[in-house]
This record gives sequence, structure tokens and C-alpha cells, in this order.
Amino acid sequence: MCGIVGYLGPLKAAPVLLSELKCLEYRGYDSAGVAVIEDGRLCVMKAAGKLSNLEEILVQKGPTARVGIGHTRWATHGVPNDTNAHPHIDSTGKIAVVHNGIIENFEELKTELIGLGYAFNSDTDSEVIAHLISYELSQGGEMLDVILRSLKRLVGAYALGIVSQEHPDRIYAVNHHYSLSVGLGQGESFLASDSMAVRQYTNRVVRLEQSEVAEITTQGVRLFNFDGLEVKRSPIAMDSSPYVIDKCGHKHFLLKEIHEQPLVLRQTLTKYLRHPNHPIDFSVGAYDPSLDDGSSENKMVGDGTAYGVHLTDEEIKGLNHINIFACGTAYHASMIGKLLIEELVGIPVAVDIASEIRGRKLLVNESTLAIACSQSGETADTLAALKEAKARGAYTMGITNRADSHLAQITPNLIVTECGIEVSVAATKTYLAQLASYYLLAIYLGEKRGTLPPEKAKALKMQLNAIPTMLEQILAREEQYKDISIKYADAHDVVFIGRGVNFPTALEGALKLKELSYIHASGYAAGELKHGPIAVLDQNVPVITVLVPGAVYEKTLSNAQEARARKAKMIVVAVDGDEQAARTFDSVLSIPPVEEILSPLTTIVPLQLLSYFISDYLGKDVDQPRNLAKSVTVE
Ligand code: G6P
Repeated sequence: MCGIVGYLGPLKAAPVLLSELKCLEYRGYDSAGVAVIEDGRLCVMKAAGKLSNLEEILVQKGPTARVGIGHTRWATHGVPNDTNAHPHIDSTGKIAVVHNGIIENFEELKTELIGLGYAFNSDTDSEVIAHLISYELSQGGEMLDVILRSLKRLVGAYALGIVSQEHPDRIYAVNHHYSLSVGLGQGESFLASDSMAVRQYTNRVVRLEQSEVAEITTQGVRLFNFDGLEVKRSPIAMDSSPYVIDKCGHKHFLLKEIHEQPLVLRQTLTKYLRHPNHPIDFSVGAYDPSLDDGSSENKMVGDGTAYGVHLTDEEIKGLNHINIFACGTAYHASMIGKLLIEELVGIPVAVDIASEIRGRKLLVNESTLAIACSQSGETADTLAALKEAKARGAYTMGITNRADSHLAQITPNLIVTECGIEVSVAATKTYLAQLASYYLLAIYLGEKRGTLPPEKAKALKMQLNAIPTMLEQILAREEQYKDISIKYADAHDVVFIGRGVNFPTALEGALKLKELSYIHASGYAAGELKHGPIAVLDQNVPVITVLVPGAVYEKTLSNAQEARARKAKMIVVAVDGDEQAARTFDSVLSIPPVEEILSPLTTIVPLQLLSYFISDYLGKDVDQPRNLAKSVTVE
């Protein structure tokens, strides 16, 4: 969370910084700001709230500077207001800093600097960096040395952009456990937390690796490690298609992305599952243009870096444990992944909320496959957990939508979901693609280890291939779902229940409703309802049950009856022709019949739409819900 940008070159910096920031607003929209060097003087402009507030200021002031840095913030230390917005400046007003991350020892440094006479304005941890650099500068030395000395005092993980009035010909950038890219144009250079933000200007990119400082000028970039030694790295050529933000006629990005799910699933299946008679092939490398449907949103973002699964058959056969780490929606997808792998492969799988790994004994070893599942590939907790597992000798794998992410840098085994960019902060199509990856991975491991008979594998693959059409049929029913959704839009609490593979669907359904409508919602394993949650039920609480024919159908129905007996409003996701469901529930979100094991791929869609319609009906900010960020880069 928090996005950093920079520009220096012949163009006016402010509009370029703004257009870069627009690509990074998903990282936080609590405030935004820029610092430019205008007529030899540092000039900072910032505003609380969405980027559009900053845009108004920039239009009014019309700075003509050719160099600057910018920031979009997700508040960690200090409320979202103008003062806490970045950039932060030092007491002399000559140095400006933008920061992504957390400085863990900022209190200690702040006390020390206040003791030295430095005056602080904000409540942020970030401001300390500007004053620290200022202090080190007063002790003498070149700017690069000053920055390197300052970094030695900082504890934490951070990415920085720094400009100084004394050096209008350059920007310094620092990467310590984050992602930062420098874009190289003709006589101009760009800086961004996400290479996608520079791709609209250039496809030549140099990525900073961990613990590196970049000195960026109009002529290029020089990289140094934290010991000041120069590091040589050639630019890579990214896929040159620009990042186009277009709702394609839909009212919101979220609705567009929900509607893209049949295509996303088809693309993922086409890529790894060439034919039901063939084994799953994860050796597939870079983006394959032949799979692109021609619309820029669906183009793979990436640089052509080879990815895929490179474990040998022997290594796969030697695994005796899998440990998955993820957060948020990716955690829910991973819960289903666990069930699939255990069912089809017979290996015990642990799935952990990545932030819960800290301070815990992680039981992985050389026979463990550790998997990090992360849409962005940047979630700090997820990356930290994978690194910890790697340090303990586990094989590692990533499932991500970003082939150019930090996650891609730290594991040799990468499954890249075929989603294109997801703009809406609430994840929908990337969840579906993560699920698809887990189905394919479970079949792949089952085939390699011989736990999945070829006939069963083939049948599953054929059933998987039928799901995109089912998704289209579900999406065609959205008006029916809309009418039902609006009936329950006045609820204050909503309970979601499901069993087996659809328990995580209930959790994800509840998460979507919370994120999008701010209505309190909880998901429960249906059998757990009676162990406490049932106490909250009355005639004002809608209970949404996910009910699909199969091993847990009857028991789920019984649990729903228990809720009905408490006069709860009863809603169900059920398959066509389910008479019992029609009799038991007040409202039915119907879906085409589906095999229980594959049902999470379809049952989630009416729940995504329900949350969307309620959010829109209540007038909420569908694509950028309050307090959220799409990419959470702090622990
Ligand atoms: C944030 C987003 C969620 C997402 C979670 C994990 O909280 O708002 O939508 O599920 O991070 O993100 P990741 O990129 O690791 O999947």
C-alpha cells in the first residue's frame, strides 16, 4: 500500500506524476501529493482524499517543473489529512521524501532529532526520514553518501523517493523489501512502485532489487547497494501494450470484472490444460499473445520473464507436506486449494493467514512445498511467510496475477493467473483465477504422484472446461439476482453459511459484502452455527446458505433449517430444480447444476453480484471502498 512515483525529463512533471499516480491509486486513496522543483525551489502540493482532490490543486497551480516525486497514501501512522499526506519535507524545506512501508524505530529517531532541534509537523513515521537526511547532510558528504548513512539508521521495510532542491537534476530512490521500478525513456526517466505506472511512457524498465539505492537522471539510472558499491543491471523490455483503464460500458470496474470471469477461466484453462487427454502442463513460460482476445485489459502484464513450475518429478514425489500462505480473498481461495489438494493428491496441506506466521514456530522442512498465493504478489505478510519457509528449506511456489511482482522474484515456481489487471479494489476475477489455479495444481500434483487415476483426471478436466459456459449462464441471470439483493439491502448484519468446499465460499461471500456495502457480515461453517453464532439470529438477520447437491447437502440443509426456526430471513445459492431449496428458503439465487467439487467456481458469482447490487443501491463507492487498499505492503 502507498504508491511512489517520480519523473524527470522535458515534460511538465505534474501531469506525468498524476498519470502515474492514477495507475497506483489501488494502493491507497487516503491522500496524495507531489513535490516538484520549480524555478530552483522545492514546492509541495498535497491533499487528503482521492487523487482527484490533488488533481484540482495541480490544475489551479499549474506547476511547470520538469522534476518531481509523488505519492498516494494508505494511512498507517496518523489520520488521513493534508498534514500527514506525503511528500514530507525537512526543516529547511529543501528535501522532500515519499515513503511506502513502516519505519519501526521512528519514535526513537524522532526523539533524537527533536533533541537536535528538528521540528516535526505530522504524526507519520515517514517524516523522520526527511529530517534524518537533513541531519546527515549537515554532517557533510555527497547526497548519495548522506542517504546511505541515513539508511543505516532506519529499521523496517521501506521504499523511498527523494528529491533535493540542491540537486534538481536527479531523483534518489531506495528499495528495502518492496518493489520499485525505473522507466527509461529518451532523455527522461520515471519512477514507480509498480512498473505498470511507467509502462504508459516506456517499456524499458530497470527493477530495483532488495536493499538498493538508485540515482536517477534524465540520462538513466545508477544503482548502488547499501554499502555504496555500484551494481550493474540492464533494463528489461516489458510488454509494450499500455495499461488502459476502461469500464467497457459497465457502470463500475467491479461489474466489468465480474463479467470477465468466463473469459478469465477460459484463458487459464487454455494455457495450462491443452486437452483433457493431456496432463496439465505448468512448464508454460511467458505471456502467450495467441491467447489474448485483443482487448488491452486482458493482455498479460509482464516482461516476458519465464515462469512456470520447475519442480522435477522426483521432487514432487518426495513432498510430504504443503503449507499455503495468503491473506484476504487469496486466503479463501487457498482454503479451497487445501481441500482440493488433500482430496486429489492425499498430501496434508496447512493453509495459514500469512500475518499469523510471525512469531510462530513454522513447521516446514525440505519435504514441504510452501505456496504463497497473492493477487498482487506484493502483500508483505505473504512474502514474509514464504521467505521464512524458504529459509527453513522448503520448496517454494507462487500463485499471482503479476508476473512482474516481488513474489515472482523470490520463487522459481510461479503460476500466473490469466486475469489482466483488476482495477476494482474488491477482488473478484482474480479470486476465480486463483481457484482455477488450485484445481489445475491439484490435478497436476495428482497426475505426477499417481494419486489421480487418468479417467478421473480426464473427467475433472472436462467438467472444468464446462464451467466458463455455466458462468455465462449465471451472469445472464443478474437482473434476477439484483431484485433479490435489493430486498436485503437494509440489513445490518448478514450471516453466510456453507460446508466443505463451500465453507470458504461463505467466508468470501461475507467478505465481499463487508468490503462493498460496509454491512457487517460473517461467514461460518454451517455446522458451527449452532455453537454460538445462532444467538445473533432473529427476523432481521438474513442468512445466506450455499447449498449444492453432494456429500454435505443434507447436513447443510439441516443447518439452514435451524436458522429458519429462529425466524431468520432465508436466502440460498442453489442449483436449478432443487425443490427442497425452493420450499425452505425465502429467496433463491439459482445457478445451473454443478458437481460439488467444482461448485466454488460458480457459487461465488451470485454472491459477488449480490454484494455489488447492494453496494450500488446504497450508493457506496463500489470500486474504491473506504479504508481499503488493493495491495497491502505493510505487515
Ligand atoms: C487486500 C485486498 C484484498 C486482498 C488482500 C490480499 O486486503 O483489499 O482484496 O485479497 O489484500 O492481497 P493479495 O494481493 O496478496 O492477494
